[in-house]
Amino acid sequence: LGAGSNVVLPARVDRPVLLMQIRGLAVAAKDQHSARLEAAAGERWHDVVRFALGQGLGGLENLALIPGTAGAAPVQNIGAYGVEIASCLESLQVFDWQAGRIEVWPREACAFGYRDSVFKRPEGRGRIILGLSLALKHARTMVADYPDIALELNRFGISSPQPIDIAEAVIRVRRRKLPDPRRVGNVGSFFKNPLITAEQADRIASSMPDLVRYQQADGRVKLAAAQLIDRGGWRGRVRGSAAVWKRQALVLVNGSGAGRADVLDLAAAIQADVAARYGVTLELEPQVL
Ligand code: EPU
Repeated sequence: LGAGSNVVLPARVDRPVLLMQIRGLAVAAKDQHSARLEAAAGERWHDVVRFALGQGLGGLENLALIPGTAGAAPVQNIGAYGVEIASCLESLQVFDWQAGRIEVWPREACAFGYRDSVFKRPEGRGRIILGLSLALKHARTMVADYPDIALELNRFGISSPQPIDIAEAVIRVRRRKLPDPRRVGNVGSFFKNPLITAEQADRIASSMPDLVRYQQADGRVKLAAAQLIDRGGWRGRVRGSAAVWKRQALVLVNGSGAGRADVLDLAAAIQADVAARYGVTLELEPQVL
């Protein structure tokens, strides 16, 4: 377990739990243009982002303020505002506890996809990520075209943003839209954005002209699950002690003392509603134990 920020747990866990607490952050190599940053798995992810920014390194700024540890970040290939961690990962230090061996896995061995990696599948299950090697740049082409971020930069009159400007914009947007897990229990997005065929998307768009669609390189279309959920009137709805966050329909929150069943019941009701209205299956994003 890292920081436990993307898991839905039962009231009691009746087996041993290993808590990852290996610490360490260092610039391992650098030249005029780039640098390799080594982060141990138990570091808080946002501290890794801050460390990189402090060294004048770009690449991680869009991923500011994502809860959880560095070691957990590659498991679901964390992503936000147009960037995924896979784009900066050079390799991972991985412990194979069955073989009792530490290995170095290059990025290509990790089968990264949207919120997905080999570590979520049976082949990767017996592995524990110990550390990350991140390839970062001193000067970098920034990804600042995500609508929320572009608007935020514009509001502050920033036309050629540096990594720190983007990180600050991301932090402000996240604080406005997403509940702070230290105050209101939540795992961030509770569902993945669904990937569907272009024909399916056209069919939905015929009765919903403002359908948000992100074209994928493989021809599929990613929809905004939040929009589909929101259209069903779910945003802000309370069900027992679980609720849908008032400012982001993709986030479920534990109002007060909700258990695993309360949260999963609410999620199932949302899945059924979206399936009935659009024929789209919403997949859960957190790991449910
Ligand atoms: N929208 C609504 N209603 C809402 C919220 C959003 O209609 O309640 C619409 C927005 O207007 C926008 C679209 O849905 O057109 C997408 O919304 P947003 O930009 O907020 O992104 P998202 O698809 O809801 C994803 C990630 C987030 C990440 C943001 C920003 C997933 C599952 N979620 O959310 O990641 O921060 O993009 O990049 O991909 C997380 O994984 O825990 C997470 C928070």
